[in-house]
Amino acid sequence: MADPATDPADALRAIASDISTCTACRLSEGRTRAVPGEGASDADVMFIGEGPGYYEDQQGRPFVGAAGKLLDELLASIGWDRKDVYITNTVKCRPPNNRDPRDDELDLCESLYLRRQLEIINPTLLVTLGRFSLTRLFPRQSISRARGQLLYKDGLAVYPIYHPAAALHQQQWREIIVQDFKNLPAALEQARLRAAGAHDDHPPGPGAQEPASQTEGQSGCGEQLNLL
Ligand code: URA
Repeated sequence: MADPATDPADALRAIASDISTCTACRLSEGRTRAVPGEGASDADVMFIGEGPGYYEDQQGRPFVGAAGKLLDELLASIGWDRKDVYITNTVKCRPPNNRDPRDDELDLCESLYLRRQLEIINPTLLVTLGRFSLTRLFPRQSISRARGQLLYKDGLAVYPIYHPAAALHQQQWREIIVQDFKNLPAALEQARLRAAGAHDDHPPGPGAQEPASQTEGQSGCGEQLNLL
């Protein structure tokens, strides 16, 4: 049997098992099932959404409701499949009535689980879906400014995108999300080149940038940075 200490898939399963019985915060009280995340343990790309909704809570799987259907379509539009990436959320249990996750819930879930998942998967590119996962890394960044940009934090390439649920309500956001997904393979390629120590002068799309306030090791705002 594979050693969970060295086999990434086993290590992720061990975390999922911890999550399924977690009572560290109040969100555990209302959950039907915890939603640890799913996908390839050696994924190049890791997606982080906000938190489980009704259907995710029922099934114990991330992004299986309407937003998840759209996420699958967006992945398919660039020839990707969810089994080839890793998908999880900032919090692993559904907030009551889909309210926003609170800071203490986000902090706990990150330190107990999300950080470990990130370390194990060690993705080439982290895609944040919506503002909650973005602000874990860039606390003062606004999603409308950061979306579609390739950013770096402590050596990790980060590509923020609006949450797919936004596209369910607003056509103008759908067009932006579709475009940002179209640029995702190029963002991944650029992140790969950088990881390999190469430099590419050609940005992946409307704005591959490292604004001074977002480059490695700097928050520009003197705040404690989460994740990694
Ligand atoms: N929205 C999220 O942020 N995550 C899910 O898993 C489903 C909907």
